[in-house]
Amino acid sequence: MKIDVLLGLQWGDEGKGKVVDVLAPHYDVVARFQGGPNAGHTLEFDGIKHVLHQIPSGIFRENIQNIVGNGVVLDPVILKKEIEALHKFNISFKKNLFISKKATIIIPTHKLLDAAYEKSKGDKKIGSTLKGIGPTYQDKIGRVALRVGDILADDFQEKYQTLVEKHKTILSFYEFDLAQLQELERAFFEAVDFFRTLNLVDSEYEVNDHLTSGKKVLAEGAQGSLLDIDFGSYPFVTSSSTMAAGACTGLGVAPSKIGEVFGIFKAYCTRVGSGPFPTELFDVDGEAMRKEGNEFGSTTGRPRRCGWIDLPALKYSIMINGVTQLFMMKADVLNIFEEIKICTHYELPDGSRVDRLTYELNSEDAKPVYKTVPGWFTSLAEVREYDQFPQELKDYVKYLEQELGVPIKMVSVGPDRTQTILR
Ligand code: GDP
Ligand code: IMO
Ligand code: MG
Repeated sequence: MKIDVLLGLQWGDEGKGKVVDVLAPHYDVVARFQGGPNAGHTLEFDGIKHVLHQIPSGIFRENIQNIVGNGVVLDPVILKKEIEALHKFNISFKKNLFISKKATIIIPTHKLLDAAYEKSKGDKKIGSTLKGIGPTYQDKIGRVALRVGDILADDFQEKYQTLVEKHKTILSFYEFDLAQLQELERAFFEAVDFFRTLNLVDSEYEVNDHLTSGKKVLAEGAQGSLLDIDFGSYPFVTSSSTMAAGACTGLGVAPSKIGEVFGIFKAYCTRVGSGPFPTELFDVDGEAMRKEGNEFGSTTGRPRRCGWIDLPALKYSIMINGVTQLFMMKADVLNIFEEIKICTHYELPDGSRVDRLTYELNSEDAKPVYKTVPGWFTSLAEVREYDQFPQELKDYVKYLEQELGVPIKMVSVGPDRTQTILR
């Protein structure tokens, strides 16, 4: 069998959690391959809203195995809290959750370093979630990080102390106050004790064994392609490979094993944190979008920046990921607009028009060039199949499909599992 990959094509929060939940009955395994607690994936069903940060979004399905791959960075304290919060749902973590021993551990000083680095950047800050993601991946690449398997070894405390001393030296350079460290460490070691009781595995064997035995595996991306460390709007990005290739390195599957690549996008755009966002709206439309879409971060609660859909950016994400199917989310949020704008190109200061996300574009003052189309301006609350779509929505979907060159196989019209229309 091949592994299907599901990922965000914009700046994260496209609705990946909801789609994994909807697709989960067709899979035996759901696996996270990168990112960490910076992610916030929302699932809504039976009138309850769940936000998952580190646990894969297949956890609510009894017959699905959930794997956290080697490419993920994990905060034991957050993981313990997440698992405890799910106790009332009778989930068997022994049976359904497996964590790679090669995943990297976020330690308390990683979070302090994240805060120190952000503070030192002043108004050029990334807008990090401050979960320690950047400093942890930095240590991973620097070959000094702690991995999940290390917590099982006798010398874990020693290894931990070596890393902390290194971090303390850096923190003293930034004159960072360490007053909270003792309390953070207490919670950390308590969580590490709990962590040891979970299924810690060599997840590359788990995943490949599943594929060999004919099981269906879905890789669940976090963040989005425009936050990718290589292809995102650097330096305003996260520190992992958020693209389809990241599923190979983050799970240990060969590129030839990738099957479908599901690209998730909103019918408009949002971004939380700093960095370029050509179609961002600063007017009443942007405010209305934020309100209608309840665009506040699932992890940090920060208001998300909102704007019209950006086709050059989507085409770029589709290209670098090899997307085979598109899923359009939050179509219902555009119900409130009589007219909808679609960015087809960018205009540069010299008057030229481009539709490529070049290296230069990042620093140039690119103005969006819009095509305006009629909105459907009606509720989609009762819509349950594609034939019931208002004509303007059908036209919007068809136009995007034609421009993007990939079929839009799913349109989401509300946060609940049931508000999902397959085409
Ligand atoms: P993720 O990080 O990609 O999983 O996305 P988030 O969960 O951070 O943000 C998506 C938000 O939109 C969540 O609050 C979802 O419940 C919500 N959502 C998902 N699909 C739809 C939809 O079609 N319509 C509306 N109105 N909300 C949606
Ligand atoms: P999901 O998986 C949206 C953003 C942060 C910041 C930048 C770097 O829910 O889509 P980091 O904490 O990684 O150092 O932050 O990336 N960011 C996200 N934005 N959704 C996410 O995850 C994000 N994870 C990180 O806001 O701009
Ligand atoms: Mg999110």
